[in-house]
Amino acid sequence: MATELLLVTNTPGMVEALAGYNGIQPFPAPGLARVRSLVVSEQPPPVVYLEDTRGTVAELWDIIHAAQAHGVRVLVGLQSIGIVHASDFADAGLAVTTLREPEALAGWIAQQLGAARRIAARQVTIAVGGAKGGIGKSLVVSALAEGMHRRGLRVLVVDGDLSNSGLVPEFRIPTGFGSFLTLRQEGRGHTQFTPANIARLIYHHAPSGIDFLLGADEAALAADFTLPDWRALMQAIGSLGETLEQDYDVVLIDTGPDMKKRPYALEAARNGGWVVLPSPPGRKERAGVGIALQQFAAHQPDLTDRCLLVLMEPERGVTVGLRHVAPLFSQHWPKARIVGTLPRDPHLVSLANEEADRYVSPLDVGRFRPFSLAVHDLVDTICTVIGLTPPQPRPTASLFRRLFPGKPGITPLQAAAQTGAS
Ligand SMILES: Nc1ncnc2c1ncn2[C@@H]1O[C@H](COP(=O)(O)OP(=O)(O)OP(=O)(O)O)[C@@H](O)[C@H]1O
Ligand SMILES: [Mg+2]
Repeated sequence: MATELLLVTNTPGMVEALAGYNGIQPFPAPGLARVRSLVVSEQPPPVVYLEDTRGTVAELWDIIHAAQAHGVRVLVGLQSIGIVHASDFADAGLAVTTLREPEALAGWIAQQLGAARRIAARQVTIAVGGAKGGIGKSLVVSALAEGMHRRGLRVLVVDGDLSNSGLVPEFRIPTGFGSFLTLRQEGRGHTQFTPANIARLIYHHAPSGIDFLLGADEAALAADFTLPDWRALMQAIGSLGETLEQDYDVVLIDTGPDMKKRPYALEAARNGGWVVLPSPPGRKERAGVGIALQQFAAHQPDLTDRCLLVLMEPERGVTVGLRHVAPLFSQHWPKARIVGTLPRDPHLVSLANEEADRYVSPLDVGRFRPFSLAVHDLVDTICTVIGLTPPQPRPTASLFRRLFPGKPGITPLQAAAQTGAS
């Protein structure tokens, strides 16, 4: 849980600067009288940062004494009248600083509170959501994870479908590897959700180079896993940089179909992340996308501008086309952006899935098929929209493609076989 910090300051930019640290929840105080009444109230804040820019020395001492009598920790910032009395404050056992810059002050406060710098400031969360099952959420998660990893981005996939993982079979992850459900312990709050404990649960998927945090677990009951548990998990994931040598660039979350019970996509958007909504054109599916978007629109503030729609090409035989529904989506949800289209390629997906005894990505089975090219396009567009710069360029049409222009699905291996080379 974050430490509530009552801020009595005239230094501009303190709240923003403190946002760069984990576990601090700053509240700017309106006036000194209000501060005093809060400090002596039934539920005082645990910590007050008190600056001499906001009152006389006598007024400061009055609040300090009240705070000390009520077990409230006081941090003192001296910038003006208080400086000459600095030793008095220090002698009273108070933590005192004369720093003035908001960044430096925030750093000092964080140090006093033992709060670590949010190294994950750059770590972007993207949840893939939807109000309906079977619309391609897990497929989009796998495709984006693969596509982003190929661009040199460090990807952690979190499986938020706690009852029926689509990712475990897709990536052929062996059963029995621990899931984050095991971190939840009866009656012990959220003490187990630490970056160190989570780092131990990360599954390194060697064939793809993608890391996973698994959800569904036969040994643990998903029903017991509450929203506060999820929040504690996400907060600890945000601080993984404290434990790991390198941060993740992207945390991709797969979600289950029960958006009301497990509003993990909404949580991601609320916390500054993004939501990808696979959007098939059929009437019922469209309604599902609408229900999902309503959840974001109903939030204060409206979070539909955090929503990115991926138009999913329908199965053969579905009469309504994407060209027809794209304007409908844009009309109803002007702030949600359409970031691309995913062609339907059951042949490619099943070729990859049926590969004898190992995992292969559809992106490798058919490097230049429209599906794979569309995934790379999606990664490009999403990265641009969310302000992420992939370290590596997108894979370009290789020599093989130029050699075999008529065979869009061909891979170098197949090409080698066709030319008789070994
Ligand atoms: N563009 C596509 N090309 C080929 N197959 C697709 C495509 N989109 C979805 N599918 C297939 O549709 C099925 C359902 O997709 P997926 O499991 O990703 O949906 P989901 O939304 O995660 O479902 P659930 O709500 O059950 O978790 C899968 O077999 C998937 O391979
Ligand atoms: Mg799924």
